[in-house]
Amino acid sequence: MRRLVAGNWKMNGLRADGVALARDLAGRVKAAPRASELLLCPPATLLAPVAEAIAGSGIALGGQDCHAEAKGAHTGDIAAPMLKDAGCAYVLVGHSERRRGHHEDDAAVRAKAAAAAAAGLCAIVCVGETAAERDGGRTEAVVVRQLRGSVPPKPNGARLAIAYEPVWAIGTGRTPTLRDVAGVHARIRAALRELVAEADGVRILYGGSVTPANARELLSIANVDGALVGGASLVADDFWSIAQACG
Ligand code: PGA
Repeated sequence: MRRLVAGNWKMNGLRADGVALARDLAGRVKAAPRASELLLCPPATLLAPVAEAIAGSGIALGGQDCHAEAKGAHTGDIAAPMLKDAGCAYVLVGHSERRRGHHEDDAAVRAKAAAAAAAGLCAIVCVGETAAERDGGRTEAVVVRQLRGSVPPKPNGARLAIAYEPVWAIGTGRTPTLRDVAGVHARIRAALRELVAEADGVRILYGGSVTPANARELLSIANVDGALVGGASLVADDFWSIAQACG
C-alpha cells in the first residue's frame, strides 16, 4: 500500500504564500521522488493556482469538503465534480471542524463521501473522539459508530481512506500514546473489514498535532498508513520532514 501524507491547509493562505509553498514542495519532490504519496488540500480559492504549481510533480490535490449533490442551488458550496474538474483526486469529508462548526452528522458525511466517490474522487473520511468521550472511555465505540455511519454502503475501497483524528489532539500539540493510536487503528481496520470488500487496501491516516518530532514514531505503528497534517503542513520544511518520516 502506498502511504499518504496529506496537508490540510484549512482556512489559511493567500495566493502568494500558497503558490510559494506548493512550488517549494513540488521542487523537492521532483529532486527526490518519494515512495509515499503527498497530497495538498488548500482552500478552494487556491485550488487552481496550486494545481498549476504542482503540475508534473506527482503531488496530488484535494478539496477540504464537498456537497452531497453534484450541482444545484447551494450558495457557497462546492460539488465533488467541481473538485475533480479543478484537478483534485481527493477530498476530506467529515473533518471535526466541519462536524462541529457546520453541524455535519454521520449521515451528511456519508452522503458527501458517496458523492466524492461518484465523482471519481477518493474521500478521506475523518473520525475521532472528543476529550470528554476519551475521558469516558468511549474512544473506540465513538470511532466505530462514526465509521459505520459515515462510510457509504458497499464503498469502492479505492475511493476511500480514513483519517483518525482525536478532536482533542487537533492543533493542541497533544497526541495519544502510541499504544492508543495502535489500538484505535487496529479497531478501525477491523471495522472496515465489515464494511468494505477491499478493507486491507484502505489507508488509515493518523491526524492531530503531527510534527517532524513525532511523525516517525506515529508512522511506524501498524495500520498507520499515513498522516493528515494541519499546522505543520503550512511550513515547507516541516511538511517535507513529515513526508520523509513516512518513507
Ligand atoms: P493539526 O491539524 O495537525 O494542526 O493538529 C490536523 C487536522 O485537523 O487535520
